[in-house]
Amino acid sequence: MSITRRRFLQSSFAAATAACFPISAWARAEPRMLTAGLASKRLIPGDEYREAAVWAYDQTVPGPMLRYRKDDWVSINFKNDLPEGSSIHWHGIRNLNGMDGVAGLTQPEVAPGAEFRYEFPLPDSGTYWYHSHAKTWSQVARGLYGPLIVEDDMDPAVDHDLVLMIDDWLLAEDGTIDEASFGSLHDWVHGGRLGNWLTVNGESHPEIPVKAGARIRLRLINSANARVFGLTLPSAGTLIAEDGFPRTHQTVTEITLAPAQRADIIVDLPAGDWILMETRNGGPYPAVTLKPTERPTDLVAKAPLFQRTVDLPPTQVDIEIPLHMQGGAMGNLREAMYHGKLMPIRELAQQHKKAWAFNGQIADHHGELAKLERNQVASIQIYNDTRWDHAMHLHGHHFWIQREDGSYLDGQRDTYLFEPGERANLVFIADNPGLWLFHCHMLEHHEAGMAAVIEVA
Ligand code: C2O
Ligand code: CU
Repeated sequence: MSITRRRFLQSSFAAATAACFPISAWARAEPRMLTAGLASKRLIPGDEYREAAVWAYDQTVPGPMLRYRKDDWVSINFKNDLPEGSSIHWHGIRNLNGMDGVAGLTQPEVAPGAEFRYEFPLPDSGTYWYHSHAKTWSQVARGLYGPLIVEDDMDPAVDHDLVLMIDDWLLAEDGTIDEASFGSLHDWVHGGRLGNWLTVNGESHPEIPVKAGARIRLRLINSANARVFGLTLPSAGTLIAEDGFPRTHQTVTEITLAPAQRADIIVDLPAGDWILMETRNGGPYPAVTLKPTERPTDLVAKAPLFQRTVDLPPTQVDIEIPLHMQGGAMGNLREAMYHGKLMPIRELAQQHKKAWAFNGQIADHHGELAKLERNQVASIQIYNDTRWDHAMHLHGHHFWIQREDGSYLDGQRDTYLFEPGERANLVFIADNPGLWLFHCHMLEHHEAGMAAVIEVA
């Protein structure tokens, strides 16, 4: 299904308003409130459409921009004004386990009306994000996410530092959220709940005013439940980081972004409008336009970009953890263990809404996959034996990806997209003690069984 369908087929509604985040002064370590609550938002411009009932942090989608410096402490009082329990996960942060925000694993759900104080240091600079980690397939889809940016002294000088949070919403004809599709078993056993309406920073094809000839840092974040975006740049940029971590600089004109992944790209603007296109899902659709309407005063010098150190993978592995992923539509999973009982797939799907298994087991949300000694080098040896893409995310650590031929991909990630039939090893140093969730970030797949826990002593 393409992003735009039915009436939305005219994808380029004229000029939406600028959706630049206000770049506030760095939120220093003084505690700040962050309140999750109900809000309304016009997702499709035009009076013929209604506002959608969204769930939002501080009444905005995306939630407020959180900007810090490396080694700052985050101190946030989370207040839950939602009608159900919630929690906040700080995606990609090598966090203290108790602050990781996984409801039911690292903390109880924060009940409606209650508060929870998140307090933790930021060991790494880069582009991160925060989102609900309770009933995520519903709460994240309704808008509970926002950007978390960590700066440091080695950041390249740029004229504009722009966060672009890309999402696809599943909307009804009148522009409201398609409620009927939440929990659809069909979506859960296929590619997840895919949307039909593309937004960047909560707006439909926003235009962001920039200085002509500027050097720009784009911080792309995929906050969709299940959609893999393919983004095409109108002029080449330099990819400097993935999932927050530095990588060997690479010239790119296209970038694939799976759910939860981030990419940092430096672009020196050529003349004219700079239109980022979505090109993987039936389009092309214009996602966002950078419009050189501001006077080009005081532009930074376009000095060669400084290449940060990219940590090399460990040369030896201490423990191997096989992980056979099965299930989903058109898959080969016949039966699996669930609650200590071997059950046929039909019963699992129809009675328990479970459809995916790791090593023949379906965990009820959180089952233990491995117990590691502190500082062991672990290799999760994954075989995606399904017909579907899976964006596998490990909490609390970044990892290297080792391909079948033994070679490693450049850099480290916290989320990696496994294609159907792909085998790859996810190699990491277990240096962060606690119970860490490992799951598919296609949030319906997670709920339908694709989750496990790795314990680090
Ligand atoms: Cu974005 Cu469990 O994570
Ligand atoms: Cu998945």
